[in-house]
Amino acid sequence: MKDKKDTPKRGSGVRLEWKRAPVPETKRIELLPVEQYRSGEHDSENAPGMFIEGDNLQAMRALLDSGYGGKIDMIYIDPPYSTGRRFTARTSPRKENRPPVDVDAYEDSWTGGLEGYLQMMYDRLAAARELLAEHGSIYVHLDWRAAHYVKIVLDEIFGMENFQNEIVWCYREAINSKLRWNRKHDLIFMYSKCDRFTFNYREVLEPHAEANLKKYRHEDELGRYRLMGRGLKGSPIRSARDVSPDWEKMRPELTYRHYLKEGRLPVDYWMIDIVNQASCERTGYATQKPITLIERMLRASSNPGDLVADFFCGSGTLPSAAHRLGRRWIACDSSPISADVTRRRMLSSKTPADFDILRPKGKKAPSAGKLQAVSKASENSVDIELVSYKSKATAAGENNGLDLITFWAVDPAYDGKVFRPVWWTCKGARNSAVKFKANWIKVNPNEAGKARILACDIYGGETFYVIDD
Ligand SMILES: C[S@@+](CC[C@H](N)C(=O)[O-])C[C@H]1O[C@@H](n2cnc3c(N)ncnc32)[C@H](O)[C@@H]1O
Repeated sequence: MKDKKDTPKRGSGVRLEWKRAPVPETKRIELLPVEQYRSGEHDSENAPGMFIEGDNLQAMRALLDSGYGGKIDMIYIDPPYSTGRRFTARTSPRKENRPPVDVDAYEDSWTGGLEGYLQMMYDRLAAARELLAEHGSIYVHLDWRAAHYVKIVLDEIFGMENFQNEIVWCYREAINSKLRWNRKHDLIFMYSKCDRFTFNYREVLEPHAEANLKKYRHEDELGRYRLMGRGLKGSPIRSARDVSPDWEKMRPELTYRHYLKEGRLPVDYWMIDIVNQASCERTGYATQKPITLIERMLRASSNPGDLVADFFCGSGTLPSAAHRLGRRWIACDSSPISADVTRRRMLSSKTPADFDILRPKGKKAPSAGKLQAVSKASENSVDIELVSYKSKATAAGENNGLDLITFWAVDPAYDGKVFRPVWWTCKGARNSAVKFKANWIKVNPNEAGKARILACDIYGGETFYVIDD
C-alpha cells in the first residue's frame, strides 16, 4: 500500500489501489461446531443453519477449503459503511425499573481510512465470489459514504457486465437537515456471476396502484379485465380503451379483453419502513435492517431449499428471513453481541430454527461472569434454578445480577466439545422474559458427560456451569 503522504482524501482526486488476488491470503483456521440447536431429536445430520462467530475472511477461506466453493446460491452483505463510528446494541435488563444498557457491538473505523476500508471490502468480495454458485447473485448494501467506491471494486471483481441493479431503498425517518437534501435512502448493488442467474420476478411483483385497479371494471372466469378496441383499420372504435360491453355483443371481432396481470413488474426503488422503536422485530442492534427488505431479495434470487449467506450478519436478519422462507443459511459475524442476538432471534421465532454455532478452533467466546444454580435430581430428570449471577463486564457501582442474563440453556450430557441443549429460555425480540427455573429436564443416566448450563449476558459473554459440581 502507499505511504501516508499519498493517502487520498475524500473528494480530492482520489486514486485508489488495493492488493488484487482471486482469494486473498489469510490465516487458515479450522471451524468447529460448539453449539447445536435442534427442535426435535439431536442427530448428526447437518442443520439448515450455521452461524460462524469470527472474522468473515477467515470463515470464507475455511468454507472454501471445506468444499463450499460455488455452492452458495445467494449472498447478501450489509458491511460497515465507513462511517468512522462505533455501534452499540441496546438491551433492557429483565427488571422493569432498570434502564436499558448500551453495549459496544462493533467499530466502523479503518486504518488507512477509505483505502483501508476498500482493501477490507476487496478481500471479502473476492472470497464471496468464489463461494457463489454460477447462477447465484450477490447483494451489497451500502450508503452514500462508500457506495460509489465499492461499486468500482465490485465491477472489478464481478465484471461490469454482471452488474444487474442499483436498488434504492428509501425509508421514512426523522428529517433534520436544513443544510442539504435529507439523506433517506441506502443503495444495494446486485451482481451476478454470469447472465443466467436466478430471478423469480413473480415472487416480487408489486401491488397495482388503486387508480389502475379501478380501470379493470369487468370480471369473468379468467379474472378482472378492461374492454379494448382491437385497433383494426376502419373500425369505428379503433384502439379505444374501456369501450362499452355493447360493442362486444354487437361486434366482438372489434374488441378484446385485457386482463389484469398478477401484479406490477418489480422496480429498483423500494419504499420499506426502517425497524423503528415500536417495531416488534426490533432487537436493539443499532444497524438492524427490516426483514421484509431481505425477504424481497431472497424471494427474487433464491428458491426454497437453496443455500444463502450473510457474512456481516449483525442481528441475524438474513438467517431469520431465510428460516421463514425455507432457505438453508450460513451467517458470520465477529461480534459476540451478534452471536447472542442472532441465537436468541433464531430460538424465539414462531418455529425455533435448527442451527449450529461454529468457532475457529482454539477461539473461545468472551467469558461472562460467575453463575450459581441449585439443582434437584430424580432418577430421570433434574430441576434447576439459577440463584445468582455476577457479570465481569459490569462496572463498579452498577447493578449486577440474574436479570443481566439474556439466554441460558441446559445440555444434560455435555461431551466437552459440542453443547447440545434440550431446554433453553431467552429474551426474545418481542421482549419475552428469561425464566430462572427449569423443571423436568430429562436426563439419561446411561449417557456419559455432565449436565451443563450455558448462559449469556447482555455484554455478549458466555458462562458455563457444571450442574453436579
Ligand atoms: C451493518 S452491520 C449488519 C447489520 C445486519 N444486516 C442486521 O440486519 O442486523 C455490520 C456487521 O458486520 C460485522 N463485521 C464487521 N467486520 C467484520 C468481519 N471482519 N468479520 C465478521 N463480521 C464483521 C459487525 O460486527 C456488524 O455486526
